[in-house]
Amino acid sequence: MYFPVYRARRLRKSETLRRMVRETKVSVDDFIYPLFVTHGRKIRKEISSMPGIAQLSVDWAVREAEETFRLGVPAVILFGLPKKKDLRGSEAYARSGIIQQAIRAIKDKLPELVVITDVCLCEYTSHGHCGVVVKGQVDNDATLELLAKMSVSHAEAGADMVAPSDMMDGRVQAIRQALDRRGFENIPIMAYAAKHASGFYGPFREAAESTPQFGDRRSYQMDPSNAREALREVALDVQEGADIIMVKPALPYLDIIRAVREEFNLPVGAYNVSGEYSMIKAAAQRGWLDEERVMMEVLTGIKRAGADLILTYFAKDAARLLAKK
Ligand code: PBG
Repeated sequence: MYFPVYRARRLRKSETLRRMVRETKVSVDDFIYPLFVTHGRKIRKEISSMPGIAQLSVDWAVREAEETFRLGVPAVILFGLPKKKDLRGSEAYARSGIIQQAIRAIKDKLPELVVITDVCLCEYTSHGHCGVVVKGQVDNDATLELLAKMSVSHAEAGADMVAPSDMMDGRVQAIRQALDRRGFENIPIMAYAAKHASGFYGPFREAAESTPQFGDRRSYQMDPSNAREALREVALDVQEGADIIMVKPALPYLDIIRAVREEFNLPVGAYNVSGEYSMIKAAAQRGWLDEERVMMEVLTGIKRAGADLILTYFAKDAARLLAKK
């Protein structure tokens, strides 16, 4: 095909024509909305670096979940702020823990909403690391047991799916075995399979109060430079029993989303993380970007790269926009 026989502009002439040949369509079905749950009642504490996102007490989280589901978003992912942090992150696997309370309250009101839980210790440990610290190092194998306990405790509270984000080796296997032993063989695992050590998590750590108190996460999260290693990480999680594989963050890692999509046949998730959200919000507030337009462009780009599911703080805004069209 060559000019002037082929003219690419012929099919761009009108919105109706463009609509007919559009290759990628973002749908509300693709979204998973993150919620931050905190102790107390009637609390809505805005996150200054994430306009529109707040820490919510359980009662308000239920209302937020209702609104989210009413907009057509099928799932939420829960993050918790414990009353007290300690060395082993005890509240993470306590029956009365904040997430366990939130799951029960949300599922009670909205049985059809899919409630996913983030499984990681960093919000619950006093040192802010994603596992047990032994002699100044995050101890892999000692952490597995706690992650497994945490997952079982979420399932007991009624969670529909667990999503380990800690990046310990062998955690999908440990969680799968623990769930199966307790009769939760039908609870799927969405693994944060290729999770990179990223500066884009900054605003999240304000939201989840999970900044490490010493060092950083580079000894367990992946080096941002590595794509082949990302495929090895995903392959391990698939072998260990992951049902959905996730790449995180999304925007600087679109090549990895694409590679994972091509190599594996499980559903692929992508986490459009806090920093990716905050950048757009901040620029839009200054009038530097058209927020709705770049939001949809970003979500479309993530989907075009190969993601089936997108975890995004834009879920409600995008759902509203899609409903208008
Ligand atoms: C917990 C966790 C993090 C995010 C999701 N789960 C933070 C981190 O690893 O430091 C980041 C999400 C975001 O930035 O939106 N380990």
